[in-house]
Amino acid sequence: MRLLFVGDVVGGPGRRALESLLPDLRSERSLDFVVVNGENSAGGLGITEKIASGWLASGVDAITLGNHAYKHRDVYPYLDREERIVRPANYPMGNPGRGHTVVERDGMRLGVVNLSGTVFLDAARSPFAEADAVLADLRGKADHVLVDFHAEATSEKVAMGWHLDGRVTACLGTHTHVPTADARVLPGGTAYITDVGMTGPRGGVIGVRKEQSIRGFVTHMNERYETSEDDPWLMGVLVRCSESMKADSIEQVLLPAA
Ligand SMILES: [Fe+2]
Ligand SMILES: [Fe+2]
Repeated sequence: MRLLFVGDVVGGPGRRALESLLPDLRSERSLDFVVVNGENSAGGLGITEKIASGWLASGVDAITLGNHAYKHRDVYPYLDREERIVRPANYPMGNPGRGHTVVERDGMRLGVVNLSGTVFLDAARSPFAEADAVLADLRGKADHVLVDFHAEATSEKVAMGWHLDGRVTACLGTHTHVPTADARVLPGGTAYITDVGMTGPRGGVIGVRKEQSIRGFVTHMNERYETSEDDPWLMGVLVRCSESMKADSIEQVLLPAA
């Protein structure tokens, strides 16, 4: 089984990078599953039904989100209705959407879980206890499980990798938009990376036009933030597996959109 997980797609430049590179990646790498983090896909913040349903129609198997899940109110009914999109599981129970799902392709069942960190980010419950609860619910319902841990602090993300090692196929970090150099399969068989990076403009500051970001840091005044168009890349990881709930390898996919 080969699974591509794509990091936070940022605005139009990120969407165009994904749409132009995914078809070739799908055939060249013989992908079985494609999961995409879409939390920044609509104008740099949040997601819309149009974007999400377009991806799903084009063959994306599932979409994960993060702290910008609720940026666009129009998407709330869609989050309730569409089972292939998940927002952090440890958000308040009554919030729109769900925190985990199972998608199926060719008889293979992939559980997809979204969790939010609590260091420098807000969530209702501990992601560690939440992960345990979600895995209990997924028992017997999935052949593989991918956890997108949307978190800021490297310590919290590394700890989550160890917490889940041997219990999920992959624990993959998102949110910082910068890929880390620590991709590996942990001893228990879980593919891990602290952050897969973003699918968006590398010429900006984590997706924002660099002039605006720099001015914000220099002046400490209210600044308008727009998505940079400069140097878009697709960033993600390819996880290969043979045995259920175990990864054989994890490889970074870092491609300029040309
Ligand atoms: Fe993000
Ligand atoms: Fe985020």
